[in-house]
Parts: sequence; C-alpha cells; structure tokens
Amino acid sequence: MKKPRVIGIFDSGVGGLTVMKEILEQLLDVRIVYFGDTARVPYGNRSREELIRFGEEIVTFLIGQGAEVIVVACNSSSATALPILRERFDVPMIGMVEPGARLAVEKTIAGRIGLIATETTVRSKAYSSAVSRALAKGSLPEDLVLREAWQQGEQPISLIKAQGCPLFVPLIEAGLANSVEARGIAQTYLAPLHAEGVDTLILGCTHYPFLEPVLREILGEDVLIVDPALAVVKELEILLQHLDEWEQSGLIGSPSPSVRGKKQWRARYYVSGDPELFRQVGNTLLQEPIDHVEQVILGE
Ligand code: DGL
Repeated sequence: MKKPRVIGIFDSGVGGLTVMKEILEQLLDVRIVYFGDTARVPYGNRSREELIRFGEEIVTFLIGQGAEVIVVACNSSSATALPILRERFDVPMIGMVEPGARLAVEKTIAGRIGLIATETTVRSKAYSSAVSRALAKGSLPEDLVLREAWQQGEQPISLIKAQGCPLFVPLIEAGLANSVEARGIAQTYLAPLHAEGVDTLILGCTHYPFLEPVLREILGEDVLIVDPALAVVKELEILLQHLDEWEQSGLIGSPSPSVRGKKQWRARYYVSGDPELFRQVGNTLLQEPIDHVEQVILGE
C-alpha cells in the first residue's frame, strides 16, 4: 500500500488551518505537520527580511519533521519571502498568491477584482502582478461574455482595489471572529471595495475564512468571495502526482520509512506561543478536533 506523503504547512498562527482544512477534506492520502508561529503573530506588518528569516527557521523545522512538500499557508510570507525560500531549500513549495490570483481570474464576471489582505501583502503588490501574470499565461474567466469582451480588448480584468485589514488577525487569534467588534471593523474595511464596484473579492490572508459569515453578511450575495485555499489544494494534488511519477521513474529517491513514520497519524500541530489558545481557536474551525499541540521555540 502507498505510504501517505507528509506535507508541512505554516502560518503566523491559526490562519493556515483554513488551508489545512481543505487539504484534509480533499486529499485523503496525506499527513500534515502544522506550524503556527503564534509567538510572533501577526506577520502582516513584518518586513520582508523578517519573514524570510522566520520562513527559513520554520521550513528547516518542518523538513526535520519529515515534510516532503511545504505549503506556505500565509499570504504575507508567500508575497514576500517565498521566492527566496524556494532558492534556499530543495523541497517543493506552494504559496497562496499565484493559485489565488488564478482562481479570481477564472471566477470574476465583471473583471473587477478586489483584495483584502495584510498591509505587508497589499504593499508587496504581489496579487496585482499575479493577476496580470495569470492572464498572460492563459488563464481565462469561465464567464463567456467577459471572456469574449476581454479577448476583444473591450473589458479589462484586473485587481482594482486592495484593502489592508490590520485589525482582523489579532481579533481572529483572540477567538473573536464572530464578535460585534469584528462586524463593525469589517464594515469599515469593506466599504471602499463596495464603492469601487468589486465583483470578486480575494481573501488574501489565510485567517480571513474564519470571518466568512461576517463578510458574507456585509457583502450580500452579489460579490463572489474567492478563497485561494481551494486552488492551493488543486495545485498540491498535481504536485503530489508528479512526485509519485518521479519517484517511480527513479528521478527522485523515496524518503526512508523512518521519515514517513510507521505509526498512524493524520496531523501534528506545533506552535511557538500558547498551545492551549491555539487548540481552542483552531477547534472552532476544524472538523477533526485538535487534541494535542506542542510548543517549539525557534530562533533566539
Ligand atoms: N495568515 C497570514 C496571511 O495570510 C498572516 C497574517 C498575519 O499574521 O498578520 O497573511
């Protein structure tokens, strides 16, 4: 029987669990080692240099735990540190931004894409470039009217408004995603996107799906919410198929049985901060309960 592959996932905190949830639901044959850098959350106002350093420490840890693929389940790190991490490590890595931008291009019906994200992700302009790149590489909207209008140069498709939402992550990490405070702040952040007539909104931070009911209530049914996690899972599935093919054809070696482990397990959780808070907030999202979280101190 085929051994499950080990996927390493990391984020600044509980946000990456929204990506992990999709992976666990859709890919049955994987095991996950999750790292939440909760002692250093939020990442959303960190510099690129800091995020590269944190990423290096975490990827090294995850590889030590047997990870064969890394999912950078943090948009702030994907938008800034990922190209450098890819250069420095041999293990294949998937980020949030390229898959998320592609999905938005496919789903928009008016070509007016909006983004909510951390200040770091907004400042990087990574999503705006990724939308243009997706179109240049051949991604097309599924909506045939828009597709034709775009192909004839009559209707642009682009990211027209990016809104930084610095207060969301601290609220979510504190378990307040469904609070009056979250609702009020969301109203303020979403108003400029509404004013611009955005038809498709990218959740450009992995924490934000925790807020989806609140966002949906404010946006109504007319705006499509795009969660990049769905596209990340597809990309991961394709990558895992390639790894199997390369392993079978001898292009890459298979990990030793001791690395993949003999004992049955589905997910392991590590955090740099308070394990109990992570467990409590994480359990509000995942179907499979988080029963054990271990604290690991990285860096100095
Ligand atoms: N969830 C992360 C992201 O997708 C980090 C948010 C933060 O820590 O500020 O950007």
